[in-house]
Amino acid sequence: MAQRLTGAPVSQKVQAEILAELAQWSEKNWPLPKLAVVLVGEDSASHVYVGHKEKMCHLLGFKSQVIRLNSESPEHQIISEIEKLNRDSTVDAILVQLPLPQKINERRVLETILPSKDADCLTEKNIGKMLTGSHQVLPCTPAGILEIFSFYKILLSGKKIAVVGRSLIVGTPLALMLIKENATVTVFHSKSENLKPEIKNFDIVCVAVGKAQFFKVSDFKKDCIIIDVGIHRINNHLVGDVDLSDAESLAGYTPVPGGVGPMTIAMLMKNTFNLAKTGRS
Ligand code: GUN
Repeated sequence: MAQRLTGAPVSQKVQAEILAELAQWSEKNWPLPKLAVVLVGEDSASHVYVGHKEKMCHLLGFKSQVIRLNSESPEHQIISEIEKLNRDSTVDAILVQLPLPQKINERRVLETILPSKDADCLTEKNIGKMLTGSHQVLPCTPAGILEIFSFYKILLSGKKIAVVGRSLIVGTPLALMLIKENATVTVFHSKSENLKPEIKNFDIVCVAVGKAQFFKVSDFKKDCIIIDVGIHRINNHLVGDVDLSDAESLAGYTPVPGGVGPMTIAMLMKNTFNLAKTGRS
């Protein structure tokens, strides 16, 4: 029977670790960690995600602030808001919700964030630190996936793992992090030839293609473990990048919703706390 690799217990473990450390933190009378989120435009999914982030801050006793800008806001205004947050000593961590409106240069905006406040690990300096292992933060979704592997005791060392997708926010950092765990990693992407026959050779496949139900379970090897990063709304239903309606032949899978999603937020809280710790000490 396929194991449902749900995110909730893993997220609760991460939250419990944060709360235990936060108790010692309060004894020092340090101000509570604070996350600032910059949200540009009216994308409804982004508004929902930011709401979840605020809620989780509240749950852990962190402070949060959301800067809301309309979709017509010029790039210089977004940059100026980030610069204000950089100077604000009460703000420990800054996140710019993606995607930004098309006309905005995403790289220029992200590079404005001080690396010491970069909650998402998306600045060039922090991406470099992740490579060398001297990081304070790691990209939230890949870090959350590694927590899922660890919690469910899925061994990675020596395993052949496929990552499908090469975005800077998920696929590429996930592949790097799996290599550091001694896995042998193959990255597939939109230009890969023979994608579907090729992925049938892997025991573990992490899918982050951003296309609703792009794969079906029969595209994977029997007894495969699937990590599904996608989340899409179809007819008021949330689905992933994989149609998991027929999952019995698998060894395990992350459900959508309730798999990777909760872990992204948990790891954002961990990053926020890590930045607050390094910022204060
Ligand atoms: N949009 C969807 N997921 C994310 C995320 O993890 N971080 C940011 N900044 N934007 C997102």
